[in-house]
Amino acid sequence: MNMEIENIDQLKQSFVEARKHGDYIRYPERLAKDLNIDQHGIDSFGIEARYELVRDFLKSHQPLKRLVDIGGNCGYFSLSLLDEGLVEEVIVYDVVPDILNFGTEAAKAMGLQEKAKFKEYSVSLETLDQIPDGDVIICQNLIHHAGALFDQELVNKMGWDDYANDFLKALRSRYKVGIFAMAYKKGKPRNWNIPGFKRPERFREILVNSKWNIWFEKNVLEIQKSGKSPQDTSVQRPSFLAAFLMTAAWRLGGRKFENLVRSVILPSSGQKAEQYYLYLID
Ligand SMILES: C[S@@+](CC[C@H](N)C(=O)[O-])C[C@H]1O[C@@H](n2cnc3c(N)ncnc32)[C@H](O)[C@@H]1O
Repeated sequence: MNMEIENIDQLKQSFVEARKHGDYIRYPERLAKDLNIDQHGIDSFGIEARYELVRDFLKSHQPLKRLVDIGGNCGYFSLSLLDEGLVEEVIVYDVVPDILNFGTEAAKAMGLQEKAKFKEYSVSLETLDQIPDGDVIICQNLIHHAGALFDQELVNKMGWDDYANDFLKALRSRYKVGIFAMAYKKGKPRNWNIPGFKRPERFREILVNSKWNIWFEKNVLEIQKSGKSPQDTSVQRPSFLAAFLMTAAWRLGGRKFENLVRSVILPSSGQKAEQYYLYLID
């Protein structure tokens, strides 16, 4: 790594500022190694586990040129994939300037500044056509925020199900492969009128309906526990009785009551295992 000391200070300071905005902020692994920073063990969102699978997925889909990452945060995925030569250029969109600034500094420190662009831009279904076409689209843990952080009116009007359908369809014809992640917790996504435990299955149907082929689908905490297992598309389902009780609870008292019943009838690992999912699609 060719970096002046003052730039390293600038990089580290930009990390500190970005970290104020949450736990997704991480140095790309090569950079962390070069800087002698041990960031393992602080990975609440299974970022490392996800990365390994994403890397293998892109290796098996070469050649790939442009990668577009929406809600890409500081570009942990994009910069690492670029650094490993799996794509030729990346464009990362996010809405938080401090986070984008850290991504830009990290790209510079890795000598990738010519091939990595960080742009402040609020993604919306209505303006998706303004982001450039490419070979890879990354959209991890973004669209479950639609209806809450952005596109509130639209999701209110359409409901999250139809919104997600249109979103995924709009991307399908423009990218060869996709990397998606979703969380199904604490009422996420908003305005999605189906019981929480049925959401992973329903999202799978939405992907298929949008003509994306699911290459890999797994709960992120399960990936962390069991390591990678390519082409594992298993979805954890509750038993028939548990599903019946949770549906009844949801009909009677909505999401809160469903969660209450869930906490009584499912072991805690079952509750957690429903939260974050990774989807690799082509
Ligand atoms: C939950 S984080 C996910 C980060 C990363 N994609 C991952 O899964 O590791 C969501 C990111 O989306 C960004 N974001 C939220 N609304 C956005 C919007 N309308 N357009 C672009 N980025 C957005 C947030 O600033 C945040 O960095």
